[in-house]
Amino acid sequence: MLEKVKETVTYIKSRVNSIPEVGIILGTGLGGLVRDIKGQLVLNYADIPNFPVSTVEGHKGHLIFGTLGGKCVVAMQGRFHFYEGYSIKEVTFPVRVMKFLGVKHLFVSNASGGVNPDFEIGDLMIINDHINLIPNPLIGPNDNEFGPRFPDMSQPYDHRLIALAQEVAAKQGVKMQIGCYVGTTGPTFETPKEYQFFRIIGGDAVGMSTVPEVIVARQMGLPVFAISIITDLGVPGKIVEITHEEVQRIGQQAEQKMTRIMEEMLQRL
Ligand code: HPA
Repeated sequence: MLEKVKETVTYIKSRVNSIPEVGIILGTGLGGLVRDIKGQLVLNYADIPNFPVSTVEGHKGHLIFGTLGGKCVVAMQGRFHFYEGYSIKEVTFPVRVMKFLGVKHLFVSNASGGVNPDFEIGDLMIINDHINLIPNPLIGPNDNEFGPRFPDMSQPYDHRLIALAQEVAAKQGVKMQIGCYVGTTGPTFETPKEYQFFRIIGGDAVGMSTVPEVIVARQMGLPVFAISIITDLGVPGKIVEITHEEVQRIGQQAEQKMTRIMEEMLQRL
């Protein structure tokens, strides 16, 4: 794995001049942030050695280099999900690559279902903790060059970045929720009792991504900021039929708010 990461990094460095400071992973239907990245150099996943290729509808397979909020960034437009059939190592491979490219922070976005009864559709939620119900990406032999065998998870999401996001959201007049994200494999959305279960165990939102990438980032000591767009509600009395298209539609409506917050956070890093 380490050799593959190094090979991929060597290829990328041969194509890109600047060293990105921040890695960004964009969720379902949330790839629009890349429109604001200046001076873009775009690599197709298909052209990057060892990179998996994205298949799910609404996910583009581009690695985009440029500046956002005045910072050099590398953004993944289109991420890999476990439910697509990729191994959990493949899902998290790009995070390893970003770290070895030199990024100092990882920003992640996703769409999720709210299970906190105070949430509304279209809300943004800063993730301050997670519960992992997806196979752990660190299972298997460990390479110490990546990080420890038994990584600490007492602060999965960086407190400083959370405080900054709250400050920026308040300044921009954007309502911001905060809470715990439950990561599931999907691809089914939840039954009513599953949503209830996730609420009971401490979740505020549930989705099918993010946690594997965060675990790998934290093993490598990379500070993480993650944000969810609440696209539907798994709250008793408010559960309605949900489709992938609906998730994308709501995601796109709230995306602008999220982009502005991330951009200002980058400016102030
Ligand atoms: N459940 C799981 N994943 C999701 C949901 C949901 O309700 N909404 C968006 N992604």
